[in-house]
Amino acid sequence: MDLRSGRFDGQMTDKAASFSSSIEFDKRIFDADIKCNKAHTTMLMEQGIIPKVAGEKILKALDKLNNEGISALNLDPSFEDIHMALEDYVTREIGDEAGFMHTGKSRNDQVATDIRLTLKEEIISTMQNVKNFINTILDMAENNESTLFIAYTHLQHAQPTTFGHHLMSYANLLLRDYQRFEDALKRVDMNPLGSAALTTTGFPIDRLRTTELLGFSKVMENSIDGVSNRDFIAEAIFDYAMLSSTLGKFSEEIVIWSTYEFGIVECSNEYSSTSSIMPQKKNPDIAELARGKSTIAYGELMTVLSIIKAIPHSYNRDLQEITPHLWNAVDTSNDILEIVHGMVSTLTFNKDRASKLAGANFSTVTELADVMVRECKLPFRSAHKIVGRLVSDCIKNNLTAIDITSEMIDNISNEIINKPLNLNNEIVNKALDPLENVKSRTVIGGCAPEAVDREINSLRKIIN
Ligand code: ARG
Repeated sequence: MDLRSGRFDGQMTDKAASFSSSIEFDKRIFDADIKCNKAHTTMLMEQGIIPKVAGEKILKALDKLNNEGISALNLDPSFEDIHMALEDYVTREIGDEAGFMHTGKSRNDQVATDIRLTLKEEIISTMQNVKNFINTILDMAENNESTLFIAYTHLQHAQPTTFGHHLMSYANLLLRDYQRFEDALKRVDMNPLGSAALTTTGFPIDRLRTTELLGFSKVMENSIDGVSNRDFIAEAIFDYAMLSSTLGKFSEEIVIWSTYEFGIVECSNEYSSTSSIMPQKKNPDIAELARGKSTIAYGELMTVLSIIKAIPHSYNRDLQEITPHLWNAVDTSNDILEIVHGMVSTLTFNKDRASKLAGANFSTVTELADVMVRECKLPFRSAHKIVGRLVSDCIKNNLTAIDITSEMIDNISNEIINKPLNLNNEIVNKALDPLENVKSRTVIGGCAPEAVDREINSLRKIIN
């Protein structure tokens, strides 16, 4: 089957042929290309555009190819792409009548259709995997609603929370990742087939029928738009990049938490490596690689946006360069998702260490300042000043939060606001207790076990 013989004498150089061939990464759209050709051929027959006998032979050959798989194609790069290799197969099977298949169809609308069909399946499968990961996190959070944990700002001790509360921040982030895919799907799930090269065709094709046969939600209303635009790809890559970012952040925290200094979690052996020289080492290589690989989708997004920028309407061959970057972003992000899900669900959490850290380094004193506002009707700024001085004095005298007494508070308040606060020691101790701190934060989004429990239940309802 030779596409060139009509227009040209002579072939491309081998270098030019392999430079321009998309065969290698077109393998990804093999199944979709069969579906697309079957739907188009069926519609052509139904509309009486091609002879029924020829159409039936074409459909039979396509079914045969579907059974035999991609290895039945001649994937020589002298075929520009999979569409030509597929037509070559059908021609070898049934002879010249195969040529009817390309009536009112172009590779331009065909490739756009194939990518959309394939990407749709990819996104649906990624969404399912994100959902599974969210469910794992919800179960872990439920088991850790009262497990003390330290929350950081600036990577410095900030306030006590629970491991459940911290985990739920990831569940919410992943929920938005999920919803972004759900939203992008609306713009991927559109049928460009029938746009043909760029202006449709004079044949009375039925684009709604192919839309139905291919299971698309809607038809693309403008044929130039149909063949030219890859905004749906940039949007999908962004969503994969954002998912990667979520997973990279989680991985980064696991790297930090698993250091000797933090000692909050330990990765299971299945997700750890050792050193070739230091026999004692247990390294979180999988988390590090997940963090490192999470940048790949960002790069692919920039590449695709750069290719899209300023190519004129309608089809330009540059568009072919976009697709491999899409699949690389999809595959890398899916790999990271699978590995991070496995790593997180097999983490060992050190409750004693986390509980010790939760109350250390004056993490509870925001609550002490709040108590002064509540009990003594002190403006928060004054309370902040008194407690700041208190912490500074404690550090000078080698004391910790549990050593703070009502008397110490009054000495400072006498100096700063010229009066004692007369808080009793029971109130002071309660304010400085990490678990009591946590329990007091019952408002929406708070870290109190009951608030986290509500959050878990509401997210469970949304996701399932
Ligand atoms: N391999 C091409 C792509 O991926 C298919 C369309 C080719 N169209 C053309 N006019 N050469 O974009």
